[in-house]
Amino acid sequence: MICVVTGASSGIGRAAASSLAQRGVSLVLSGRDAGRLDDARNLCAGVETVALAGDVTSPAHTERLFEIAAELGPSDKLAAVFAAGVAHSGDTLQLPEQIWHESISANLTGLFLCCRSAISAMLVRGGGHIVNVMSIASITAFPQSAAYVASKQGALGLTRSLAAEFRARSVQLTAFMPGSTDTELWEGKAWSPPKDNMLSAADVGDAIADLVVSDRKGYMDEVHYMPPKGIL
Ligand SMILES: NC(=O)c1ccc[n+]([C@@H]2O[C@H](COP(=O)([O-])OP(=O)(O)OC[C@H]3O[C@@H](n4cnc5c(N)ncnc54)[C@H](OP(=O)(O)O)[C@@H]3O)[C@@H](O)[C@H]2O)c1
Repeated sequence: MICVVTGASSGIGRAAASSLAQRGVSLVLSGRDAGRLDDARNLCAGVETVALAGDVTSPAHTERLFEIAAELGPSDKLAAVFAAGVAHSGDTLQLPEQIWHESISANLTGLFLCCRSAISAMLVRGGGHIVNVMSIASITAFPQSAAYVASKQGALGLTRSLAAEFRARSVQLTAFMPGSTDTELWEGKAWSPPKDNMLSAADVGDAIADLVVSDRKGYMDEVHYMPPKGIL
């Protein structure tokens, strides 16, 4: 199996990549920060891994990820974990338009571009599995998080629509919705849940890797993966 992982330079994406590597899955890793992406690649020693720095809002980058996957494992089962994302919070009336656009761009438009590249590559091979890392904000509205909630709810709609369109052609899409997870995403936020109550990135990465390597016939359309004490 070969898997493309976005957001692989940090947090949930990096943990999912490391867990997939432990299960023998070859990897194509994407993130913006080339240095941190290289560190993530070193975590995945033992399997074939290529790291490509780039932005998921660039169609050239998302296309290239799947060209590399085709070169690396031309006849392998193809999977993708799309975990790239940003989160901003604060008083919505003070929300700079640039933050709004950045959130929609990374979390929604970027996800669309990733899915389009992945599905095109998967159809050529007769199918594949995409795990889109959404958030519990995809189904719950939090205050002071308008751009994040809007982008994540849009991303869930996108995932559901693509699942409906492509499942008959053996492309499985899973909307994976974690509750609060201890990653850099929370750094510098005015408020965050107690770290002790959060999931660890490693735990969430393992749960995602379980889904990717599963050879069950049924499709796991949507998963809510919550900390034991609740969402936040
Ligand atoms: N942490 C939580 O509590 C939580 C809960 C639910 C859902 N999620 C979701 O899980 C996903 C991963 O978040 P995380 O907690 O792991 O955060 P993180 O540690 O901040 O990681 C975010 C990752 O996304 C990448 N990224 C951001 N914008 C990008 C862009 N435009 N193009 C390419 N890569 C981009 C970052 O790359 P660089 O660092 O290289 O720039 C980084 O690898 C996000 O979609 C987030 O919404 C997180």
